[in-house]
Amino acid sequence: MNLLDRILYRWLFRSLANQLLITYLLVITIALAAVSFWALVAIRKESLTDLQNTLEVEAVNLGLEIDNDLELDSPKARKRIQSAVDRRATRLGVAIVVVDKDGRLLADSSEPGPVENLSKEQEINEALAGVISKTTRSDPDSLKNWMYVACPVRSSGTTTGVIRVGVPLTEIERRLKKDLFVFLEIILATGVVTVLISLWLARRVNRPVREMSALAKQISISGDFSAFLPVRRRDEIGELCLSFNQMIGRLREQERVRQEFISNASHELKTPTMAIGSVVEALQAGAAEDPKLRVQFLGSLERLVDRQTNLIQDLLDISKLDSGSETNWQSEVNISQVISDAVDQVRPQAEKKELAISTQITLESGGQDLVLVGNANQLQRALLNILTNAVKYTPANGFININVRSMGGERLEIRIQDSGGGIDPADLPRIFERFYRADKARTRESGNPGGTGLGLAIVREIVARHHGTVEVESVVGKGSTFVILLPLRPDNA
Ligand SMILES: Nc1ncnc2c1ncn2[C@@H]1O[C@H](COP(=O)(O)OP(=O)(O)O)[C@@H](O)[C@H]1O
Ligand SMILES: [Mg+2]
Repeated sequence: MNLLDRILYRWLFRSLANQLLITYLLVITIALAAVSFWALVAIRKESLTDLQNTLEVEAVNLGLEIDNDLELDSPKARKRIQSAVDRRATRLGVAIVVVDKDGRLLADSSEPGPVENLSKEQEINEALAGVISKTTRSDPDSLKNWMYVACPVRSSGTTTGVIRVGVPLTEIERRLKKDLFVFLEIILATGVVTVLISLWLARRVNRPVREMSALAKQISISGDFSAFLPVRRRDEIGELCLSFNQMIGRLREQERVRQEFISNASHELKTPTMAIGSVVEALQAGAAEDPKLRVQFLGSLERLVDRQTNLIQDLLDISKLDSGSETNWQSEVNISQVISDAVDQVRPQAEKKELAISTQITLESGGQDLVLVGNANQLQRALLNILTNAVKYTPANGFININVRSMGGERLEIRIQDSGGGIDPADLPRIFERFYRADKARTRESGNPGGTGLGLAIVREIVARHHGTVEVESVVGKGSTFVILLPLRPDNA
């Protein structure tokens, strides 16, 4: 590839606008050229027919003027013929030739040459045979194209001679050439206009595209989402800029959530770690010597470590859900089994508080186990989180009621009702947020400082993975009911 080729190649294939420009130019030029060619051919044909008709009329008129003299065939008659021919020829600017019935030259408007036989010319031959004949040919002397119309002159049924009127086609050709130039000018002007419009369009399109790609590059290099694109237009490009900005906004929000999560998580991890540190310090300072204090301190150490372990487990779970590394969401899950396993896990604590746990499963299709497509471990985890809360926030001698029913064979409703203290309406909309714990005082009062505020956030995440919803109804002092709705098959979601 030489330099020119390379420049052309770059110019063409590095720019969408240039490719469009070339395409437009080609299409417009080809179309205009075809139209011009067709027009020129039509104009030429029309002009030739017009000219032929005029020449024919002149030949017939001259015939009417000289037919008597042709028949006479005397020197005087010949003279009259010659002068009639000359008159008409000068008036019209044409060349006229008259021959007798044997094809011999009688009169010639150009020069009165020697008598010669013109019957070898095809058009004269045909006219001698009695038909009007037209022909166009190039004259070897003048190198011009000529049109000839030869008309027979008849009198009492026989052909007495032939009049041939000829005219050079220079005039028509000059006009055609002029038309051709006009067409070429139109093609050129259209081309220039096309280029100008294309350049203008290209600038309009290129500018936002360049801005967009520059911003995308900047974001990918620096990870900085602070800048938005200017949206100046309402067309497709403007819409693209809007979507791009929405994407940046979304990324910005995600980044903010991520930062907040990290800062919350670090904070939550720091508190018990520092507490563990002080307990250990106290033990080292002498508390270990006192058997009573030692038991008490070791007990709180155990609780703190438990809390830390729970928190780390929750953090791991939620980050696993966030990262999408859990991929098994399509297994068959026996919901009755999942529920009874979850209940078994909270039963010891529930028994400690003498809480009654009851489970009702209402099946539509008589007796069969409810089977759902999803992830059994994750669903069990979600139920366990809700049940743990129910046990935790319900005072002694209360009850927990689990009610499962299938709805229309498509969805499953799991209601978990407790007779606990309920949730303040102000907290209700927020309890599914990460790290959100309602009413710290009451939490402490329930004797359970071990909460992380992540339990319900994990529930919401898991339910969403199953294309389901989770909601809560609660009355302070009466209790809360968590309602999970799950499609039996994700494609029914
Ligand atoms: N069954 C319930 N009864 C009363 N309050 C509840 C119940 N379940 C959840 N909550 C409230 O919702 C908050 C968030 O719950 P969760 O995300 O599990 O965090 P945690 O249990 O670690 O505090 C809890 O702090 C509690 O105030
Ligand atoms: Mg909880």
